[in-house]
Amino acid sequence: MIRARRLTLLASLMLSGIATAPAIAELPRLLPVPAQMREGEGSFQITSTTPIRVPANDAAAHNAAERFADLVARSRGFRPRIETGADANNAISFRRAKTGAAESYTLDVTGKGAEIAAGDDAGLLYGAVTLWQAMTQDQAAGPVAVAAMHIADTPRFQWRGLMLDSARHFQSPAYVRQLIDWMAVNKLNRLHWHLVDDQGWRIEIPKYPRLTEISAWRVPAGAPGAPPLPKVGGFYTQAEIREIVAYAAARGVMIVPEIEMPGHALAAIRAYPALGMGVPIPPGTESDWGVFPWLYNVDDATFGFLEDVLTDVMALFPSPYIHIGGDEAVKDQWKSSPTMQAKMKALGISSEDAMQGWFMHRIDDFLTKHGRKPIGWDEILEGGASPHATITSWRGIEGAVTAAKSGHDAILSPAPILYFDNRQGFGPLEPPGRGHLSDLRSVYDFNPEPEGLSAAEQQHILGLQGNLFTEHVRTEERAQWQQFPRGSAVAEIGWSPVASHDFASFMDRLVPQMARMGRLGLKPAISALTVTAKTDYAPGDKAARVTLESQSGFPIHYTLDGSAVTPRAPVYKDGLSLPVGTRLRAGTAWRGGMMPGAIDIGLDASFLRRRTDEQLASCANKVVLSLEDDAPAQGERAHFLTDILQPCWLYVDAPVGGATRIAIDVGQLPFNFQIGKDRDAIHFRAPATPAGEVEVRAGSCEGERIAVLPLAPAVGNPEVTRLIAPIAPRNGKANLCITYTAKDVEPLWAIKQVELIP
Ligand code: ACM
Repeated sequence: MIRARRLTLLASLMLSGIATAPAIAELPRLLPVPAQMREGEGSFQITSTTPIRVPANDAAAHNAAERFADLVARSRGFRPRIETGADANNAISFRRAKTGAAESYTLDVTGKGAEIAAGDDAGLLYGAVTLWQAMTQDQAAGPVAVAAMHIADTPRFQWRGLMLDSARHFQSPAYVRQLIDWMAVNKLNRLHWHLVDDQGWRIEIPKYPRLTEISAWRVPAGAPGAPPLPKVGGFYTQAEIREIVAYAAARGVMIVPEIEMPGHALAAIRAYPALGMGVPIPPGTESDWGVFPWLYNVDDATFGFLEDVLTDVMALFPSPYIHIGGDEAVKDQWKSSPTMQAKMKALGISSEDAMQGWFMHRIDDFLTKHGRKPIGWDEILEGGASPHATITSWRGIEGAVTAAKSGHDAILSPAPILYFDNRQGFGPLEPPGRGHLSDLRSVYDFNPEPEGLSAAEQQHILGLQGNLFTEHVRTEERAQWQQFPRGSAVAEIGWSPVASHDFASFMDRLVPQMARMGRLGLKPAISALTVTAKTDYAPGDKAARVTLESQSGFPIHYTLDGSAVTPRAPVYKDGLSLPVGTRLRAGTAWRGGMMPGAIDIGLDASFLRRRTDEQLASCANKVVLSLEDDAPAQGERAHFLTDILQPCWLYVDAPVGGATRIAIDVGQLPFNFQIGKDRDAIHFRAPATPAGEVEVRAGSCEGERIAVLPLAPAVGNPEVTRLIAPIAPRNGKANLCITYTAKDVEPLWAIKQVELIP
């Protein structure tokens, strides 16, 4: 049994004794690492009586001071008072000065005080964030000595962002504010807010009340026969949005709202069918995932609607940029509509892609007339994007390269690497999501300077962002797990000079950063800190070979006698040969303390003959998703890593020798995917019984069938069912291929675990 403890970083640092303040102030571990940092002499002691001084009549400096005082109060338990004045002696002072490019600042700490200088408001905020980070090298409360130093800091890119999809699953306003807090202390400055999509409309538009009355709500999909799930959803009132926008602005974060068009339009069309192409919407479609065929029509009334919506959006969001989507608009409904074809002919437009170009240009003109800049996903290049459109490159980085070469600004957010709905590790703690592994290291190693761009073209790359689409992210707890610490990696790539990039150094600075953010309510992913164990075992062996890994690069310590792992326990090197029955405990250590994510494994025969969904391989790796079960409505639900286009699993090197039975834990899921013609390409072997069977073959998926497990016992159970059947005797190890027979894709059967029973 693998048990990974999700101890908070805070608790773990406290327990490990790092909580005491260092006697001598050392240069702080800052994230993102500053452009320039030089050690000074001595240190400055900040206590509850140390004042903050801001210039008179400088509201932005006052705001930066307020933010700083808040952060100090939330982490060190005292709130420095804010005074007006220019006396920097024995104070934390804010001052205006030319410090270079936008958002840059200097921070000077001497024995006599700490002084933040910046030319713009953002620079003052970032100087405050840096000083706060310097004050929170440990988790202690009360006074703190900050090492004397000089920092001159400036960002590498102007666009350092996260994208939050609040359409597929809604997050509360409180969550969005927390996210802004976490972004700000990483010097992330752009929140791209995906507010509408097929599954939900989240922004109140008073003139069109049905958008939120109808389309802010949906009943999640369930497998046939499963008890219905409660309705989910919500929306942001205009008052809430104003408050969030102001909250973000006070923290240096620009919110860029996204209103999708002409595709991803089902929520709008569901509320106001006249906006669509007249194709009926089957009930429940709004709880499907994928690429939907429902598009807006191009009637003047529809543009009137979109302009009304955008007028409200512009009133709520002062951002110079408005994102207008443009992605994944499959044109089937436009192609098959005589009205649309006649319209295209009248306009002299020969292709549906060009028609989308015409559509986007019309909206672009409207925004431009109102002084705003449109952004679109990279598909808008295909219909001939208007010259001043900025491109969000998501289908790899090619969109950004094409954009930059043709004079468009571009933002890098390529899937899969910067798609934070992808998994960042393997283990029992990983939440549902997309199946590609986008771990912290790969995010950190992402290069935002695409090959082949001239220096002038590179200037068009505004920066990068990590996107969280939330089809499979049902809760706020999971949203934050997916967003951080990968968001901190985006922050460092986006802010720090490339010469300073070093993953080991990043990890060393990330641990205190996560602890700080813990004070701001964050429960980050510990995927990079945890230990993953792989076992190799053949039937009859007295010992199993075990390899341990951790993405962190931190030393892994282990015990074999059941005792708790400490930094004094042996350090793992390269492979362990352990007698069957050994209890293996292992965890990573950092600066003398154990990190969360330690594992505790009983290496008994049952463990060694078992694989969970995450340890099985996918036969074809077409569209692998970790899907959450549709039951129970309340409480923990299982989730299953499966390929929805080819449900087929490989148990590589399965120790089949001596096994007489096989147990397979299965769940049934709704097939709620809009995948167009791809659905016709999903084939199953014909079932022998009405409910179908799970089949196990040896050697390959065409090999001898060695076990058949009828699915009938699982049909009435919306949760996980254990199926057990005899297995044909074999020797040694074999690769097992596991599939199921079915008449149709509905329901989708998925495997949680496979166990060979002697
Ligand atoms: C996208 O992922 N469809 C932008």
